[in-house]
Amino acid sequence: MAKDTGKDTISVTDNVTGKTIELPIYHGTHGPGAVDIRAFFKEFGYVTFDPGFVSTAACRSSITYIDGDKGQLMYRGYPIEQLAEKSSFLEVAYLMLHGELPKREQQNEFLGNITRHTMINESLKSFYEGFYHDAHPMAIMVGVVGSLSAFYHDSTDIRNPEHREIAAHRLIAKMPTIAGACYKHSIGEPFVYPRNKLSYCGNLLNMMFSVPCEEYEVDPVAERALDMIFILHADHEQNASTSTIRLAGSSAANPFACVASGIAALWGPAHGGANEAVLHMLDQIGDVKNIPKFLEKAKDKDDPFRLMGFGHRIYKNFDPRATLIRKMCHEVLAKLGDENDPLFELALRLEEIALQDDYFKERKLYPNVDFYSGIIYKVLGIPTNMFTVMFAIARTVGWVSQWMEMIGDPEQRIARPRQLYEGAAKRDYIDINKR
Ligand code: CMC
Repeated sequence: MAKDTGKDTISVTDNVTGKTIELPIYHGTHGPGAVDIRAFFKEFGYVTFDPGFVSTAACRSSITYIDGDKGQLMYRGYPIEQLAEKSSFLEVAYLMLHGELPKREQQNEFLGNITRHTMINESLKSFYEGFYHDAHPMAIMVGVVGSLSAFYHDSTDIRNPEHREIAAHRLIAKMPTIAGACYKHSIGEPFVYPRNKLSYCGNLLNMMFSVPCEEYEVDPVAERALDMIFILHADHEQNASTSTIRLAGSSAANPFACVASGIAALWGPAHGGANEAVLHMLDQIGDVKNIPKFLEKAKDKDDPFRLMGFGHRIYKNFDPRATLIRKMCHEVLAKLGDENDPLFELALRLEEIALQDDYFKERKLYPNVDFYSGIIYKVLGIPTNMFTVMFAIARTVGWVSQWMEMIGDPEQRIARPRQLYEGAAKRDYIDINKR
């Protein structure tokens, strides 16, 4: 790690005017240093051009770190492998929000807070009736989560740290309840209220799969598998949905509105929607013998087909989350399904064949978190259109942590990217009769 002496600079010369300026370089704990270009426009009169933010750090953050070349992921410095094995989703949530693992008393208090906020206002239930039974659950999630600010006015003053904390707890606590209700609405069953004696994931399973007329026992294997998947999805630094939340939050919008915007961004198949797309793709491929044909399609630039669950902007090596989920697939299938599950077999063969292919090797395209997660969800009985909802529940922890960090950042300003205007030059209005 390079030490931040405050003396490292980079010289930039404008070859048109000959002007040279020195820009400071900052060094974080890990990862590449960052050139501070805030003076660039003032000094040179140019804006910088970086579509997709390939080389742009939009903020400082102390929450999550990814080393894409080594395939490493850490939350608050703790490797994801250790958290997945030893921690629990709510402990990780505390870690994300507060920066440190909780002591026992802190953990008990946090669990109590989350448990006390799991119910949703009864009037919210009528929102679901406005949605047709076949509405995509992510559409319902965007609507219902966005509406929370209309119900919880007492936690929308973003300048008040207590409000921020209550809003964060409410969002983490209510997401499973809102998601469970989405599922129940789609299958025409009555909503199930949260039960405080169950764990976070046990509660979600109960709200999705229990019915009032029968006893329901949460399966501990399913509960643990979901908890681990949620740990793996909890945060992923400045991805599209998190950046959307930071962008929305930079205007001082309330946290419920911000998280609704994040859910909308997550839905896209290039982001969280990929887990659903992977299952559709595996269904479409159907058989190992068809893999070469689909790989050719994925490589063909004239064909919009891409290998879903493959590739990542940051990882140029194995996504450590995919490795952990693949391992968990073996365990879950052995206990709850069939280890020779044809879909899992197909996914394993697809990974193997793609990783031997020059196209994927040269571009360093590896399976990402979404490649195997759907196979576990399917074994747990979760329908395909709920996969991205599962992602949203888990990612809420990262979203609210990043939002809190942003609000507390003294350098935070309204996010307002510049542009390179390439439209029509100034011209005069033409009367309609003369066009
Ligand atoms: N199948 C075929 N080709 C691919 C794929 C793929 N899945 N991913 C990237 N490429 C090719 C791409 O065509 C390009 O080739 P070339 O250099 O010849 O033009 C090269 O690899 C670099 O790709 P890119 O599109 O410039 O990379 P990006 O960083 O802009 O996009 C990505 C990253 C994740 C959107 C992309 O890899 C992708 O669309 N993957 C499939 C969707 C997916 O699995 N998304 C989940 C991401 S992980 C979880 C999450 O973020 O929620």
